[in-house]
Amino acid sequence: MKQIVILISGRGSNMQAIVEAKISGAQVAAVISNRPNAAGLAWAAAQGIPTIALDHKQYASREDFDVALQAAIDGFSPDLVVLAGFMRILTPAFTRQYEGRMLNIHPSLLPAFPGLQTHQRALEAGCKLAGCTVHFVTAELDHGPIAAQAAVPVLDDDTPDSLAARVIVEEHLLYPTIVRAFVEGRLQIDGLRVHVQD
Ligand code: GRF
Repeated sequence: MKQIVILISGRGSNMQAIVEAKISGAQVAAVISNRPNAAGLAWAAAQGIPTIALDHKQYASREDFDVALQAAIDGFSPDLVVLAGFMRILTPAFTRQYEGRMLNIHPSLLPAFPGLQTHQRALEAGCKLAGCTVHFVTAELDHGPIAAQAAVPVLDDDTPDSLAARVIVEEHLLYPTIVRAFVEGRLQIDGLRVHVQD
């Protein structure tokens, strides 16, 4: 049974989609949040999933927090670490530790619009397509080998919220699909490219 640890900071709807996908051969071993009051943490606990709140404000430096986070994660010996709305910039030492076995979902068609406010920026740029990206995590923020993307149309009357609502539907489909492919050993990293076997 492959062990998955999911990191969240808030609502946790992507985490919920992955849990509800009930991927065979995999178990969500724990959900960890850097925000103790993250709504997703309560949801996970109600499902009987072990949860840990690790408040980043209690740590003197980013490095100290990442060391504590790594210790918490490694307590579950995960095969895969899944970032699902985990709003922290990670230290290179931390990302190195999980190279090739840590995924993130980002609400844009990377490499366009890394960072925050992606929907607003896509609207301001006049994009006709927007979407989301699941990628392996590297030291560079919102970069790393792209496992999958899903696109949605941008409509004339879209606001950042209406666009986000259209994109998140795709996120909830895409992320469990790629986590399942990882669990089944169907993802092969080749430089910045990822080959996904059927
Ligand atoms: C999602 O849009 C995700 O792509 C981004 O942050 C948001 C998290 O939403 N990284 P949720 O916590 O999964 O509901």
